[in-house]
Amino acid sequence: MPYNTLNSTSTTNSTLTKQVTVKTLHKLKSNGEKFVVIALYDAHMAAMAQRCGVEVVLVGDSLGMTVLGYDSTIPVTMEHMIYHVEAVARGNKKSLIIGDLPFMTYATPNDALHNAARIMQAGAQMVKLEGGEWLAETVHMLSERGIPVCAHLGLTPQSVNKLGGYRVQGRDQANAEKILADAKLLANAGADLIVLECIPAALAAQITTAIYIPTIGIGAGKNTDAQVLVINDILGLTEQPPTFSKNFLLEANDIPGAMQKYVSDVKAGIFPGEENSFS
Ligand code: KIV
Repeated sequence: MPYNTLNSTSTTNSTLTKQVTVKTLHKLKSNGEKFVVIALYDAHMAAMAQRCGVEVVLVGDSLGMTVLGYDSTIPVTMEHMIYHVEAVARGNKKSLIIGDLPFMTYATPNDALHNAARIMQAGAQMVKLEGGEWLAETVHMLSERGIPVCAHLGLTPQSVNKLGGYRVQGRDQANAEKILADAKLLANAGADLIVLECIPAALAAQITTAIYIPTIGIGAGKNTDAQVLVINDILGLTEQPPTFSKNFLLEANDIPGAMQKYVSDVKAGIFPGEENSFS
């Protein structure tokens, strides 16, 4: 058991026994049950996530910052992503694995198709893309060809230079209406999940009830169908952590305990609190 060196009694109850699929997640939404997502990058943490009952692991291009030491996600390449998706897929056989498509690898539908296929062949079961209306055709194309898609709206880090920094999005009415309209459009185009990053909690709640596919919030309040955090933030490894994150190691005895605490707090609706949300 190569990835089992960080055992904790607190992780033994919730181990995933069945492969999580898109259908599982849609069923959880229709039952009103929250699910848990962690952005992580290696086989060991991926195995721990499976033991802690984390339904979805995201191999995020945040690895550009958390693993590779870049200042943003923009330098991340397909080769970086494939390397880490392969590692995560070796460690976890039960959670649904989403792989990010990095900056400028899906600028056209054909680029998206080619690069999404590579991420899927590396072991992902879904790809994630950042952007709104302009991606509808791409989402439709991928979905029609059997590639599940997770959309990503609100603060989209690959557009940091266009957005003028890592800022909360959707605070003015026009921007909020645009995000809501984009969410509906992408869901209708065939997206299976949507990440909502750094938007007001009320807007995220409105989107969550307006669309039939699950929403995954990060800095989007507690009324989304799921939550995602980056493993480095959960474990207190980030020097200046974002206010929407939380160091769960402060409330646990060990690393598996911290992961388990995150899982149980999301499922119980305890995390995120008001202090981790934007109004
Ligand atoms: O890259 C990433 O890890 C992400 C999440 C923070 C949503 O996109």
